[in-house]
Amino acid sequence: MPAHRLSLVCSLGALLVGCDATGSSAPTWHADVAPIVVEKCGGCHTAGGIAPFTLDDFAAAAPMADAAVAAVEAGTMPPFDAYETDDCEPPQPWKDDPRLTEAEEDTLRAWAEAGAPEGNPATAARLPEPVEHALEGDDIQALEPGATYTTSGDTDQFVCVSMDPALATDRWLTGLDVLPGNTEVVHHVVVFSDPAGTSAAWGDDYTDCFDISGGQALAVWVPGSPPLEYPEGSAITVTAGARIVMQIHYHAGGRVADPDLTQVLLRWTNDAPEWTAVVTAIGNAASEAEGLLPGANDRAGVEFRIPADRADHVETMSIPIPAETQEFSFFSIATHMHMVGTDMQIRWRRGVPQADEAPEDCLVRTGWDFDWQRTYTYDAPIEELPKGRGGDTLWMQCHYDNTLANPGVQRALADAGLDEPIDVSLGEGSLDEMCVGIVGLVFK
Ligand code: HEC
Repeated sequence: MPAHRLSLVCSLGALLVGCDATGSSAPTWHADVAPIVVEKCGGCHTAGGIAPFTLDDFAAAAPMADAAVAAVEAGTMPPFDAYETDDCEPPQPWKDDPRLTEAEEDTLRAWAEAGAPEGNPATAARLPEPVEHALEGDDIQALEPGATYTTSGDTDQFVCVSMDPALATDRWLTGLDVLPGNTEVVHHVVVFSDPAGTSAAWGDDYTDCFDISGGQALAVWVPGSPPLEYPEGSAITVTAGARIVMQIHYHAGGRVADPDLTQVLLRWTNDAPEWTAVVTAIGNAASEAEGLLPGANDRAGVEFRIPADRADHVETMSIPIPAETQEFSFFSIATHMHMVGTDMQIRWRRGVPQADEAPEDCLVRTGWDFDWQRTYTYDAPIEELPKGRGGDTLWMQCHYDNTLANPGVQRALADAGLDEPIDVSLGEGSLDEMCVGIVGLVFK
């Protein structure tokens, strides 16, 4: 840009582009960058937050400018693994999408390239209000385990704990939230109901559990996620006598941290909802590989096996939906693999598309980071959500990297006391794999 244009832009007002005293139009912390970083990063990179360093003031953020740009460009920060490609454009935008807009990313990059100038605190842009992520409503039940949990500090831990919501009759759940006790160690929480109530046998004890089968999923929570609310007009039925179970993934942390007591908030309604919501796993969550298609590394016959030292192994499934299945709509979707996974997509192919429907929707595509598995929720009213019905086909593809170049593999091997990759097959342990979608559906 010619110099006279620069000074013209500056004379138009520091408010717009944050010109500093030297007349350069580089963005500055106070005028341009602080509002972006505080909004998009500040929730975690703040004192007492879960991130290992703060970014919410100039002194902390300036030395991190290049690292911040690198993390944003790589798509690792803010943690949100869903992404779009020419081949996979989900049918609706995502709710609470924390990613930076292109303009915000450009501003951050220009600031870092200019040497992370501070600008003038006297004319600082107004900072966004912290977003209140509270579950609202008048019938909210807080549940907490009967005992705290103290992590060992030397390895990641996966534990389950059972709580009693004391349901004398069936009730309708419209939303829930997880309030971590010790944010330093709580990394992700899966909440499910145990309709048979058998987990009551655990008492107040926390039991080891890496993956969960049985039980009805209610929500997957990771730090920074807002409360989970089922679509307006819908609710999940939780039956009388059911227990509520939390599976908590604790970070190693490197030291014995303060005891944790994580709470769940459940929001109930007494009014019969118009729509029933369910959250359910699809794919090979259980022992058999349903709908598994032949793959390049199969030996004799179709098998779910990720050979040691393969960098790009692919498993694909195509699962026909039984003809009698009634029509439903997808409101949320999550991908799920273990430590070897790298990328996953879920597509929905319609047997007989209706007039306004595409023959196929790519419901979601995500990279994979075990620590940041989250639920992606479509930002649209029920009428505009993608629909499915009997005669359709679910198609899922999972990519794996079973080499030491994959940090997840390094971590799983270290936990198992191994130093070379091994063949990985279907199962529930951290050195087994899965290819699972977790979908939120509503139907009448
Ligand atoms: C939901 C919480 C959360 C948000 C939001 C978040 N971070 Fe992070 N960030 C973390 C955690 C936790 C780590 C530690 C590494 C890990 O667990 O992935 C981290 C690590 C980092 C790192 C270290 C290198 C890396 O890539 O792991 C950088 C740089 C970073 N964050 C920048 C940012 C920036 C810039 C933003 C905003 C645009 C942001 N983060 C938003 C939680 C968050």
